Parts: sequence; C-alpha cells; structure tokens
Amino acid sequence: MCGIVGGIAERNITEILIEGLKRLEYRGYDSAGVAVINQGQLLRERQVGKVINLADAVAAHHLQGNLGIAHTRWATHGKPSEQNAHPHASGNVAVVHNGIIENYQELKQELQQLGYVFSSQTDTEVVAHLVNHALKQTPDLLQAVQSIVPRLKGAYALGIVWTEQPDELIAVREGSPLVIGVGIGENFISSDQLALLPVTNRFIYLEEGDIVRLKRNSIEIFVNGQAIDRPVKELDAAVTNSSKGEYKHFMLKEIFEQPDAVQQTIAQALDADTLKPDFLAKANQTFAAIQQIQIIACGTSYHAGMVAKYWCEQIIGLPCHVEIASEYRYRHPVIVANTLFLCISQSGETADSLAALRDIQRRAKQKHIPIHTMAICNVSTSSMIRETDFHLLTLAGPEIGVASTKAFTTQLAALMLLVLKIGEIKQTLAESLKQDIIKALWHCPKVLNETLKNDTEILRLSSLFVEKQHCLFLGRGTHFPIALEGALKLKEISYIHAEGYAAGELKHGPLALVDNDMPVVILAPKDEMLDKLKSNMEEVQTRGGELFVFADEHSDIHAQDRKHVVHIPQVSEWLAPIIYCVPVQLLSYHVAVLRGTDVDQPRNLAKSVTVE
Ligand code: F6R
Repeated sequence: MCGIVGGIAERNITEILIEGLKRLEYRGYDSAGVAVINQGQLLRERQVGKVINLADAVAAHHLQGNLGIAHTRWATHGKPSEQNAHPHASGNVAVVHNGIIENYQELKQELQQLGYVFSSQTDTEVVAHLVNHALKQTPDLLQAVQSIVPRLKGAYALGIVWTEQPDELIAVREGSPLVIGVGIGENFISSDQLALLPVTNRFIYLEEGDIVRLKRNSIEIFVNGQAIDRPVKELDAAVTNSSKGEYKHFMLKEIFEQPDAVQQTIAQALDADTLKPDFLAKANQTFAAIQQIQIIACGTSYHAGMVAKYWCEQIIGLPCHVEIASEYRYRHPVIVANTLFLCISQSGETADSLAALRDIQRRAKQKHIPIHTMAICNVSTSSMIRETDFHLLTLAGPEIGVASTKAFTTQLAALMLLVLKIGEIKQTLAESLKQDIIKALWHCPKVLNETLKNDTEILRLSSLFVEKQHCLFLGRGTHFPIALEGALKLKEISYIHAEGYAAGELKHGPLALVDNDMPVVILAPKDEMLDKLKSNMEEVQTRGGELFVFADEHSDIHAQDRKHVVHIPQVSEWLAPIIYCVPVQLLSYHVAVLRGTDVDQPRNLAKSVTVE
C-alpha cells in the first residue's frame, strides 16, 4: 500500500527510483510519480496508472538528478489523478508520503489562511506547505521538518527534499514502515527493502519517531532531536530472491513454493521425532504461565488464527480466542492476566494488527496486568517482530502476489508448532499424539507436492466458473476457515462474489441462494464430520446446485452429473487444512486468469495494508 523510494547518489538516480517503484508494484497502487533536484531546480513527473507510464514520461523528458524521491499512490484522500499523485510540492519543497495525516483538514484551513493554495485533494499536500512555511523561519530542512512533525497526527512515513539543500534527503517514520538502504557513497530510503535490492543488501530499519538526514556519505538519525545509532543489517541471499522465474504470475509461483516453504518453517523447530530443545526456549516460562491465547489478525492471517483455535482447544485444551484486529482494537476488550496475545501477519506492518497490539500493551501496562505478546510473521525485520516479546518466523520467503498463499500455509505450520510447544511445556499433550502430529508435519511437504499435481484437473474445472456471478464455499471444523479463505481468494483475484460458510449453517440461510447457477465448493477431508458434510452436499444437489468437491481419496465421494470431484491425497486430519487450502488457491488463480484480471495486483487492493 503506497510505496516510497528515494535516494542520493553521485550517479543519476531516476532509473534506480523507477526500478524501485516497479519492485513496489505488488503493494497495489493507482498512480506514480517522481521528483528530482537538478542544478537547483525541482523537476517532477506524475502519471496515473502503471509505473511503466511514469518510466516512459521520465525517459521522454530526460528527467535526471542525483537527489530524488518517488512514490506509488493508493488513493485514500482524493481520487487517482495526476494532481493527487505524489510527490507534492510547495515552493521548492517536494514530499512523498505513506499513511494518513488525520488532522489534515484543520492544518489545511490554517495554511489556506496563510495564503497557501492547494492543488490536490490529498492529506499529503499539507506536509509540503507546512515544511515550506517552516523554512521561512528556519532555513534548514532538517530543523524545519523537526519543527512540523509534532503537528502531524496519524501514521506516516515521509521523504522530503528541498532545492536549496541539494545534498540531503530528510525522512520520517511515524507509524508507517520505512527503511534506509546503505550504499557506498550513496544512500536510499524505501517503504520496503525489496525496492532497493538492486543497489544494496545493507539496511537500517527505522523505528517510530525517527527523523533521518541522509547524505551521500552519511546517515544521521534523530529521536526527539537527539542523534542516535541504529544497527546496519545485512540481508541474506534467500530474502533477496524475488523474481517470477518460469511462472506466469507470482501467485502461481508462490502456490508452488508451498512444499518448500512449509519444509523450511517446520525444520527450524523439529528434530526427527521431537521438538528441538531450543525451539522457542526463551518463552518456556511464559508458556507455562499462560491461561489462554488471544489471536489478533486480519484477512488471510485471521483465517489461519481461526484454524489454530480448533487446534489449540482440541489438542492441548488451552482456551483460544480469535478476533479481527480492526474490531479488537476499538472495542476496549477486557484484558485478562496471563493471556498470550498472538499477532499473526505476513508483513508484520498491518496497521490494524499493530494498533491492536500497541493498545493491549499500553492498557496492560497502565493497569499492571501481566500479559505476554508474540508474533507469527514472515518478515524478520518488521515492526511486529520488534514490538512483541517472542516471535516465530514463517520462512515462506518474500510473498509478492497480493493474494496470500504460502504465507498462509506456513502460518498454519507455525501455529501447529506453537500448539505442540505449549502443550509440551504445559504437559497437556499426549506423547503419542505429539509423535503423530510431528510425523504428519514432516510428511506435509510431500503431500503438498502431490496435491499440486491436481493443477491440470483444477484448471479444467475453473472454466466452469468463468461466467458465474456468485459462489459458495462450505467446510466444517478446521475446514470452515478454509472455506472462508477459499471465498476470500476467489473474490479478491477473480472479482466473483463468493461466501464461505460453515456447512452446518447452510439450512440457516445460504441454502436459499442455491440454484442451477450457483457453484458450491466443498472441502471434504476424511474426518469425523464427513458424514454430516455428505448430507450438506445432498441438500445442495437436491436444489440443483453444482458441486465442486475436494475430497479425500478414501472418502468414498465420486463424481456424478453436476458433481465434480478432485481427489486429494490422504493426510492426517490435524494437518488437512494445510493441504486443502491448496486446491482453492489453484481454483481461484485459474478462474482469475481465465477472466483476465490482474492476478498479482488485483484492483483496489494492496499487499501491505499500512493504513487503517
Ligand atoms: C488476502 C490477504 C489479506 C492479508 C491481510 C493481512 O489474500 O493477503 O487478507 O492477509 O491484509 O495482512 P498481513 O498478514 O500482512 O497482516
């Protein structure tokens, strides 16, 4: 969601900025722009649509400079248009911004009274005018920015340049991600390190409240006006691999990477038939003390949390609650002592999840309630990892497609590892069950590989969805969240309206929707709910609905007229959700490709939702 790239170098910077923006495309955007300073002049180019339009305009106008900022915008205030695209300028100041300035109306009125004219409907433009105005009193960019930042309410990351100081770039992080890329004789900023990988693999991860003065040969970071040091971290090669390779889309590549991603994730925790003694060892005392788990997450990560609730309560008898972060953060929930607050997030930067986490931490501290926080997250350098007591990494590698796939399966694997670990510490997990689950976890990558072999069959079925307007997904138990996840995948990338339901709810409403034109996708692993699910399938068939069943090879479910069956390899019932999400991912992918949508960057969506 919105992307910033900026930098200062001896060489021309525009190509680096454009390449950086291309690498941020996955985050979702509707317009893009760049500003550079060249011989005391501020040169700006902005375009609606793809970065390629901007790249063409930059090339056509020979835009060049050694200092520059660039941006992909995802409209919040004001529609996508050239005028609303960043960078925004005021006098000789240019600004790029991620996030939202919540009090911009009030600041705008004040600036208008001072004679500033607004050329966009954005909240960002107030920052450009405020800095320009401050420079009239304090002709130093760093000081001017430091003086206006306390006036900004909301969450934001900023990159700011001024023609009068053509050798420095000022950056601010307050609630939206921003990293510094450390080069040799050149330095950069970006909202995601991926954007800067062509120029460096050394990064400084800024913290909330950091204000930075970036020059070619120096990086100064200030907190409340005091200079401080932050460590430079080097990324390893695995993190830097983000090309589509032989695949047509990142999403497909990421679906097929799941066996490896799950393997990596479990290998960090498991020896042959046991948990490694040092796995989450730092949390042993905490796990012994906790009385319940409260999971907080958004979207797909929330669905992973829903599966974990079943596991946690059934396998180790520990109460587990799950809630969407955007609800949890505003409903002032009662904080219960000795709760483990578990945030699940691919990016670790999701605004609602972070806000919920911070709110719990603040309120628990105020009331002296002992709580513990933990993150399951895919980005080791994220805010969420930094701000929680413990973390467990999903080792999925960079996920570029907006629709989450391998992040989800690795979250499930990580959650199962966590359940095993807590059960072991609390001694609430029967040894034989633990052995069975560990064996099944090791087996999981193989079953995932076998499941992926159904791709051609699923492609064939997907053609039957292309003309449909609506679709239902049904599952029971741990497959109810997978039904929700299937519906989310289909709607977000193919734009077909889809609903996920617990199959037992069918008669309580959604059955009314079922007719000849309603495809109903069923998740039918072989478990104790299978017979009940078979009755639900009958109910759909009797009403003329067309069934698409992903069924265990031993479930005795066979194809008939208007009943399509894809057989899924047998798997332990505990781990079936990790396997059964694969066919729904593939189905959604193929339907979207056949409908010609933008699979990796679906309309209106962003990868990392860093605003509320
Ligand atoms: C859907 C999807 C989103 C994310 C959600 C949370 O495919 O990707 O629903 O799961 O925006 O993002 P993270 O996991 O980064 O907190």
